[in-house]
Amino acid sequence: MITTTNITELRKIRATLPAPVGLVPTMGYLHEGHLSLVRRASQECRSVIVSIFVNPTQFGPNEDFARYPRDIPQDLQLLEKENVDVVWTPTPEIMYPSGFQTWVSVEEITKTLEGKMRPGHFRGVTTIVSKLFNATQPNRAYFGQKDAQQALVIRQMTEDLNFPVEIVICPTIREPDGLAMSSRNVYLNPAERKAATVLWRALYTARQAYENGERNAKTLREIMLDILNKEPLAQVQYVSCADIHTLLEWEDQIQGMALLSMAVLIGKTRLIDNIVLGGTLSQ
Ligand code: PAF
Repeated sequence: MITTTNITELRKIRATLPAPVGLVPTMGYLHEGHLSLVRRASQECRSVIVSIFVNPTQFGPNEDFARYPRDIPQDLQLLEKENVDVVWTPTPEIMYPSGFQTWVSVEEITKTLEGKMRPGHFRGVTTIVSKLFNATQPNRAYFGQKDAQQALVIRQMTEDLNFPVEIVICPTIREPDGLAMSSRNVYLNPAERKAATVLWRALYTARQAYENGERNAKTLREIMLDILNKEPLAQVQYVSCADIHTLLEWEDQIQGMALLSMAVLIGKTRLIDNIVLGGTLSQ
């Protein structure tokens, strides 16, 4: 496994890699969710690059950039075991040198859900992912369904800007009690960790209602809200039942595929989760 920070060196190494090349972009502090993306990339590609970069431009001024968990030595150990070919760990100075002034933004589908709650977040994500694509020139790039809107925004950007990259969306990996794996779960104290299962319980119950024939979006949102509101440590930011293509709320009956999603504060930790009804996002 080759590890490099330098972008020129990365490009030289990239030129020697047998295709197809798979990229797994991460912010590090890797868990089973990330490793599932790496394993999928290894199955489908002859070479695998993992990038580790905590991207400052996708964090708002009052968000957790400074305290976002980081552990590069542990990440490298995990990736070594997965037979990754290259790990790229650029610095903020490399990705955003002084004078940097070019941004990539996707318009409509960034206006709702996470985009509405976190202004500027997706502009940071699409800009850094464009830069990661340009530097690593992958044939395929792997993202988790856990960040469903992010994956859809990146897919839109890739199509709109004609990046020759196939976007692969992989299923959310959950703890045995249903909590979606996330680097931010480390912030939860034991009582909060227990309370955090409420997101999955809300999604699961709404899915059961859908499977029993419920198609009314308002009812599905209410089912989720009822469960979330019963958890004293949970503070709901949004609960959504949206059209998977536009990410606008279904107002009445769901007509096609729906993304059920939510953002919930458990104590001070902001967690997100989602499921898809009527089809699948992940391949
Ligand atoms: O999902 C993440 O870890 C990040 O948003 C990504 C895609 C690596 C961009 O910084």
